[in-house]
Amino acid sequence: MPIQTAIIGCGSISRFHFAALEKMKAPIRWVCDLNEEAARPYAEKFGARDTRDYQQALADPQVEVVSVLTTSSTHKRICMEAIGAGKAVICEKTLAENAEDALEIVRLAQEKGTIFYTSYMKRFMPAVVKAKELLPRLGTIFSTYIRTYQPWGDIWESNPAEGFFHTPPGGVSQVVKSYGGGILVCGGSHLLDLIGFFLGRPQRLYAKMVQAGGRDYDLLAAALIETPNGVAHYEAAAHPLKKIGHLRDGWDERIEINGTGGRIEILSALWDQVYHKDSLLMHYDEASGTVTEYRYGPVSPFEGALAFFHDNIGRGVQGTQPITTGYDVDELIGQVKRSAATGQAVDIEWKI
Ligand SMILES: NC(=O)c1ccc[n+]([C@@H]2O[C@H](COP(=O)([O-])OP(=O)(O)OC[C@H]3O[C@@H](n4cnc5c(N)ncnc54)[C@H](O)[C@@H]3O)[C@@H](O)[C@H]2O)c1
Repeated sequence: MPIQTAIIGCGSISRFHFAALEKMKAPIRWVCDLNEEAARPYAEKFGARDTRDYQQALADPQVEVVSVLTTSSTHKRICMEAIGAGKAVICEKTLAENAEDALEIVRLAQEKGTIFYTSYMKRFMPAVVKAKELLPRLGTIFSTYIRTYQPWGDIWESNPAEGFFHTPPGGVSQVVKSYGGGILVCGGSHLLDLIGFFLGRPQRLYAKMVQAGGRDYDLLAAALIETPNGVAHYEAAAHPLKKIGHLRDGWDERIEINGTGGRIEILSALWDQVYHKDSLLMHYDEASGTVTEYRYGPVSPFEGALAFFHDNIGRGVQGTQPITTGYDVDELIGQVKRSAATGQAVDIEWKI
């Protein structure tokens, strides 16, 4: 029997989740948004019940899985209630606004035996899946360069007069309202997740951040991170350059993992244009002296993510993605901020 889903939050990210669920033919029992205009088209398209109050969906015993796709500041409350209602939960990243809140959510999920995922969909990019498979062929991994340069427009020099990146005097910018921070939380969080995914939980880091002048968000976060598999050189930056990156569209995100037996390089495609742009993976093998290039065509990583989550939920198992994923990233975000604020390297004490 396909499992019944409730979607909470029908804003911009939800279209990728709806498209993935449609492809899987997963029944959507409820859609919920505070804004009726946002929810109604999906309710009509999927024949789902429509509500402004997510508790209605949580109270429905037919609902087995709840996707929390609301603004990040609401994740904690909704996730805790969904866990309390006995549902499996898929929450968009970032899990919470800080590591303490993320920890509370994960501890409750563990206590209740909930299957719980934070959806870092880049783990499911075909190039990333293949790279993970190739990792044992790299021998001893000693150095990784992992960085995202994201085209946020010309916002380095001054506060934009309006729009997503405008910070009103004494107020809060839309980027912080929706996502809880600047480039570290937005694009940077995905790469912190991939560091854990590829290299294991880091032990120590030293970071530097650049705050936007007169605004409430950061434009750059860089760190040297010690992991169980060598050092990671990490950077996330918002930039104004229009034609950099391997597709010359301003998106310049790359991962290079170096080992004694070879090297993997991933050049990713702009995250919200995955239906017509594809990523590239190259594997250099020292033993044979050959380079193999992998191209997959445009694929939405949300499809792989949702298929993986639902398959596990259907079988009643957490599977290979740890329940702590969202906490791990929120802990690293906190430690990057702490190191940047103090100018000191920090040891990471994992609390779970
Ligand atoms: N995976 C990614 O690469 C990626 C990219 C963008 C956003 N996100 C994450 O997705 C989440 C949503 O971002 P978005 O861009 O869709 O934001 P959005 O503002 O477009 O949509 C959020 C929606 O949630 C609704 N909402 C807020 N509180 C609610 C509540 N209590 N009950 C019901 N509905 C509520 C809002 O009305 C809005 O329609 C954020 O956590 C964000 O960090 C992830």
